[in-house]
Amino acid sequence: MILITGATGHLGAAVIQQLLTKLPASQLAALVRDPAKAASLQAQGVHLRTGDYRDPVALEQAMQGVEKVLLVSGGADADGLQQHHNVVDAAKRAGVRCLAYTGRALREPEALVNDLMKRHFQTEDYIRASGLDYVLFRNILYMDTLPQFVGPRVLEAGIYLPAGEGRVSYALRRDMGEAIANVLATGDCANRIYTFTGAQTYSFHDVAAALTELSGREVRYTDVEPADFVAGLKARGLPELVAQLSLGFMTDIKHGQESAVTSELAEVLGRQPASLKEGLRELMGL
Ligand SMILES: NC(=O)c1ccc[n+]([C@@H]2O[C@H](COP(=O)([O-])OP(=O)(O)OC[C@H]3O[C@@H](n4cnc5c(N)ncnc54)[C@H](OP(=O)(O)O)[C@@H]3O)[C@@H](O)[C@H]2O)c1
Repeated sequence: MILITGATGHLGAAVIQQLLTKLPASQLAALVRDPAKAASLQAQGVHLRTGDYRDPVALEQAMQGVEKVLLVSGGADADGLQQHHNVVDAAKRAGVRCLAYTGRALREPEALVNDLMKRHFQTEDYIRASGLDYVLFRNILYMDTLPQFVGPRVLEAGIYLPAGEGRVSYALRRDMGEAIANVLATGDCANRIYTFTGAQTYSFHDVAAALTELSGREVRYTDVEPADFVAGLKARGLPELVAQLSLGFMTDIKHGQESAVTSELAEVLGRQPASLKEGLRELMGL
């Protein structure tokens, strides 16, 4: 039995839907906080297990009879690292054979500006030290975040971000979900690290050019000053903390943290992942 956590989230759901094409539903379990959100999974025959990363007892119970766990990283909670530790510890206690984790593909973890990202590497260290067999999936920035980054008025107003000439090897979340499912469906759990990225990198000038081509309207990218970017977000009502977090993301992009390129996603998919233009067409309905 394979247990997928974060099963009512985007990535977890994509992984489960792909696993359902490869394995019988009776071999799949979904860890959810709110079973009401998982009615369709249950209807497809997936076992529902209820538990929160904050609840060690529920986690251990949820992992009974489970051979493999995919820990989908949680949100930005202050105790997020402890939540991940709880899942790893519960897996050990429950006798799970293989722990897989969805972290991030970032070039230089020790130089990250966005503290939230460091948590992924701390979680990986904890998994390695646990003695469990593991698979680590290091995912690049979801292309799916682009509509949020460029904003709803991008075709009229253009792109204003403090990301310099930073380049990102974006991949669609569903491509990474499919690749994760392909790996999980095999018996392989030999302490491997997969770095899943798109086939090439793109700057925000490239994003603007792709939007121009797809929409037929000229879109330009302007590299803005960090202070102006934060002030703009706050003027739109975002809290300081969220504004600083967004700046951290952009600064890491500017510094090239999201620019690794590997062929592993294509290899595990058995095809090329979606390009920027293909992804934007789908994500923005262009
Ligand atoms: N590579 C990237 O670009 C990128 C971008 C954003 C995020 N991420 C990371 O990748 C993860 C998956 O992405 P996503 O798009 O699927 O995010 P998502 O849609 O927000 O899903 C996150 C999932 O984690 C679950 N979760 C959060 N805290 C939990 C807790 N305390 N106990 C149990 N479950 C908990 C949520 O449960 P509920 O359904 O009950 O809310 C949800 O199912 C994110 O959580 C984040 O760590 C990566």
